[in-house]
Amino acid sequence: MTKTVRICHYKKLKIKLNGDVYPCCTSYPHTKLGNIFDENIYQKIENANIICECPMFKSVERTPEDKIDLDYIHYETSNICQASCVCCPQCKDKMQNEEQHLEKIREIIEHYKPKNIIAIGGEILVQEKAFNDLFELKKKYPEMKISTITNLCVGKERLKKAEEIFDKMTVSMLGFTELTYKNEMGLDFSKTMDNFNELYENKKVKLSPKYLAMPTNLFEIIPFFNWAINLDVKKIYLHCIHEFEQVANLKNPYWTKTFAKVEKQLKSILENNKELLISKNRHFISIHTILAEKTNINQQYIDDAGLTNIIRITV
Ligand SMILES: C[S@@+](CC[C@H](N)C(=O)[O-])C[C@H]1O[C@@H](n2cnc3c(N)ncnc32)[C@H](O)[C@@H]1O
Ligand code: SF4
Ligand code: SF4
Repeated sequence: MTKTVRICHYKKLKIKLNGDVYPCCTSYPHTKLGNIFDENIYQKIENANIICECPMFKSVERTPEDKIDLDYIHYETSNICQASCVCCPQCKDKMQNEEQHLEKIREIIEHYKPKNIIAIGGEILVQEKAFNDLFELKKKYPEMKISTITNLCVGKERLKKAEEIFDKMTVSMLGFTELTYKNEMGLDFSKTMDNFNELYENKKVKLSPKYLAMPTNLFEIIPFFNWAINLDVKKIYLHCIHEFEQVANLKNPYWTKTFAKVEKQLKSILENNKELLISKNRHFISIHTILAEKTNINQQYIDDAGLTNIIRITV
């Protein structure tokens, strides 16, 4: 694949929870640009030369003619969340300097006016300042596209405001029945589905449902997929927790038999919807590499099914 040659930090900034600024999500140590609380952070960003290479991009030295024109600012808000997902790696303690962190990020956004903002918590839909800042930013700069990842399990008043803010939402689900969803996330499945359906019908927000599989909710990826594949959404994620291979001994025959059942049903859904998928003619499904391997929905299967540009195996 040909790489895009660019000055990475003139196109995208990633601001982490501790305020450190990088050109992208990869956050290689040598690409650190500074911290949002550095007095001269704007000069540090503008004067940095990031020489770097990854599968998609090659970052080259800037010239005096180059000007920062950000496509994205991606930032992390606090980890505060109303859910209690067992798999969640985030510590839910209140951030000591949350107010200042968000103030500074807002200042940086207003300084650079990026085309897109990606804001991720915790759960932004229940975080007062992070949510209200985005609401005000959207009012002031309606052309800025704002995205987040959310569990979407909030009241109607919050949902209405969220609909005004966000252009794109990825909706994470860790179960697809009341009981599993309650056990895995501590949340109310009907409430989330009702909210999802409302946004879906209104068509303002581009939605991407995401299933996060783990040993205790694995089979419910099947009804999830059966539902999601028929939706007119941006993308469907069939993902799993990073720790899947640590928390389950996948070499044990128990898992071979379990995954064989999941494989059969996922493939049957794919085969029953093949024409619909092909008609989309774009990347519509992302399947995590562990799930792809264990269900044999591997590159060979995808190519043989004629779904090369529809399904991508991702990490
Ligand atoms: C930490 S959450 C924050 C956003 C929001 N609260 C949510 O859950 O969608 C960001 C993403 O991480 C995913 N996630 C949570 N625990 C994970 C784990 N152990 N491995 C991989 N992804 C995980 C969630 O499904 C979500 O898509
Ligand atoms: S080359 Fe890739 S990894 Fe390096 S800064 Fe650019 S986007 Fe990030
Ligand atoms: S909803 Fe998201 S942030 Fe909240 S506990 Fe679950 S994974 Fe973590």
